[in-house]
Amino acid sequence: MKNIAVFTSGGDAPGMNACVRAVVRAAIHNNINIYGIYRGYEGMIKGDIRPLTSQSVSNIIQRGGTVLKSARSDDFRTKEGRQKAYDQLKSHNIEGLIAIGGNGTFTGAAIFHQEYGIPTIGCPGTIDNDLYGTDFTIGFDTAVNTALDAIDKIRDTADSHDRVFFIEVMGRDSGYIALRSAIGGGAEMVLIPEKPDSLENVIERLKHGWGRHKRSFIVIVAEGEEIGNAAFISQKVKAQLPELDIRFSNLGHVQRGGAPSALDRVIASRMGLSAVEALLSGKTDMMVGIVNGRIKFTPFAETFKKKREQIAEMIKLVEVLSK
Ligand code: F6P
Repeated sequence: MKNIAVFTSGGDAPGMNACVRAVVRAAIHNNINIYGIYRGYEGMIKGDIRPLTSQSVSNIIQRGGTVLKSARSDDFRTKEGRQKAYDQLKSHNIEGLIAIGGNGTFTGAAIFHQEYGIPTIGCPGTIDNDLYGTDFTIGFDTAVNTALDAIDKIRDTADSHDRVFFIEVMGRDSGYIALRSAIGGGAEMVLIPEKPDSLENVIERLKHGWGRHKRSFIVIVAEGEEIGNAAFISQKVKAQLPELDIRFSNLGHVQRGGAPSALDRVIASRMGLSAVEALLSGKTDMMVGIVNGRIKFTPFAETFKKKREQIAEMIKLVEVLSK
């Protein structure tokens, strides 16, 4: 293998740049030509593939976002799109791929690998932490710390005014950001897609807390929660409990930006180096993760199909510690 390419795809995540840097430097260390594919699968289809050097990735380890840009490609979901992508890779003599992204990226990578057999290794880059086969995805720790910073500030004003706050955090299909920031922020309640709840139950728990003389509440709502978004829930609760002073806040895309935390920089660097070594040793169709501190490889198909099992324990933490 002489020519490999790296790309970032799906929602950007802090630490993606640290991973790109590690991939580029590891490839150069192994005397391999390394190319960057810009805007993920979109750039693969369009042939936006450029050589990278050690200098191309100088001074990026500390930067949020991704210097390779990112996109969610509808064309790559089609057979014609993937054929174009394959033709572009062939014309650039790309023999191996390193994909940095989340479950959408790996779903695409698995299909592409099945169809064309180009050796591919994935690095988990998503703030959602919703991939099986790694304790942490790149960007998750930074996103949680960003959310916590905002939650702490909201708690100050919630406490001063004796208010109930519904705070929405990201996670379309996943409650990991919500759970971790609820634990870290000392929230009274957390609502996540993995454990469907009801409006009645939320109201009951608020009443119960009020009865115990709690005067301010923080409820963390994951974006993908089933009852509705934070704005909708706060409106419904207000209608039934007019005596409570209720507000909501949606933290939004602020969670995706910013300088990566130390943890994200370190795991991104480890994963990037391991991905290159794995590709060169003949591994393919797998994601590199870190489980209990050690590098572990998991087939792409398992990363987005299998579920992790810590949810119940984390919900219990929120419930017991907020009493
Ligand atoms: O996958 C990361 C993520 O931030 C999710 O938490 C969120 O649901 C989604 O991306 C938002 O995507 P977009 O920025 O494309 O609207």
